[in-house]
Amino acid sequence: MSSAPRSVQIKGTGSYTPQKALTNNDLSKIVDTSDEWIFTRTGIKERRIADENETSSSMGAEAGRRAIENAGLNIDVIDVIVVGTMTPDMPFPSTACLVQEKLGIKNAVCFDVEAACSGFLYIMEIASGLLQTGRYRNALVIGSEKLSSILDWEDRTTCVLFGDGAGAAVLGLGEEGDTAGIIDFKLGADGSKADMLHQPGGGCAIPPSTESLAGRQHFLKMRGKEVFKQAVRVMGQAAVEILEQNGIESDQLACVVPHQANMRIIESLSSRLHIPIERFFLNLDKYGNTSAASIPIALDEAARAGRIKRGDIILLVAFGAGLTWGSSLIRW
Ligand SMILES: CC(C)(COP(=O)(O)OP(=O)(O)OC[C@H]1O[C@@H](n2cnc3c(N)ncnc32)[C@H](O)[C@@H]1OP(=O)(O)O)[C@@H](O)C(=O)NCCC(=O)NCCS
Repeated sequence: MSSAPRSVQIKGTGSYTPQKALTNNDLSKIVDTSDEWIFTRTGIKERRIADENETSSSMGAEAGRRAIENAGLNIDVIDVIVVGTMTPDMPFPSTACLVQEKLGIKNAVCFDVEAACSGFLYIMEIASGLLQTGRYRNALVIGSEKLSSILDWEDRTTCVLFGDGAGAAVLGLGEEGDTAGIIDFKLGADGSKADMLHQPGGGCAIPPSTESLAGRQHFLKMRGKEVFKQAVRVMGQAAVEILEQNGIESDQLACVVPHQANMRIIESLSSRLHIPIERFFLNLDKYGNTSAASIPIALDEAARAGRIKRGDIILLVAFGAGLTWGSSLIRW
């Protein structure tokens, strides 16, 4: 007799953000900007900046360690590690392998996924699929970014928006009949808009050279206004579609954990979904946009603050370079 499918559950969460906070006023001493401009256009007050010894793997490992501890598990039951990052420690080996070594985990499948700010939703879906094969027990999924390493600190249109940090979750199968767990995912991408937000240099198309460095090609480039419009469109769509597909009304959602890029983007999502902004978990004032780390840091803070309780239905929704986007519904 075949047994009923078991749901994939979030067993624990963890996050790590660097000590050093860079305020909008601090930034106004580096580029021609002001606290008033940044805050009114984005909702960001400050962001964390990793020190020179901190990397995506070291921050990710610490967030991962906290998630494993929060799950009450031992490291030897983690057999998958997936890291979502667009700022890996190095092109290879994967940041996930470096995290594995830092945590002392012996037997695990380790790899990275690059889906920019949607990365955490992408890795959750991939790891869930692996768990459902029945071949793995627990997956450590980590979003970790040292964006300060690819920001152009002379470009006021981008450097004010981003920050560093890491967030993680341990995924595992629930008991048979337990309805808590991931309800659904909805992921998407549109590669025709790849150059709207990208880092042109440093890969094989434009390998590092004196010319590429002089042309500042290894820094993040963005057409902010266009990205803004796309973000409003696809985040709204990803949220509405997943709710409709699952027959869930927006007033059934206890909490929405959105990608923390811009307060105005989140406000437009709030009005499209008819969900009051108070039901959104927000921390972008403290951290800015931490790309793949944004949702797992927010999820960890929301869970620890008691904003999400067992049985609650929550919505995660993200948007990022690629373009990529994604949403997920979870019964906590
Ligand atoms: C970047 C963003 C905040 C800019 O806001 P905006 O209202 O579109 O501002 P604009 O680009 O029209 O710029 C308005 C003016 O402010 C100036 N400006 C840009 N950055 C500035 C800064 N940090 N400080 C002060 N002035 C700034 C511009 O040069 C422009 O000046 P001009 O009118 O003299 O040319 C906004 O477009 C945005 O948030 N986009 C989405 C970015 C994002 O979330 N990316 C990540 C996705 S995962």
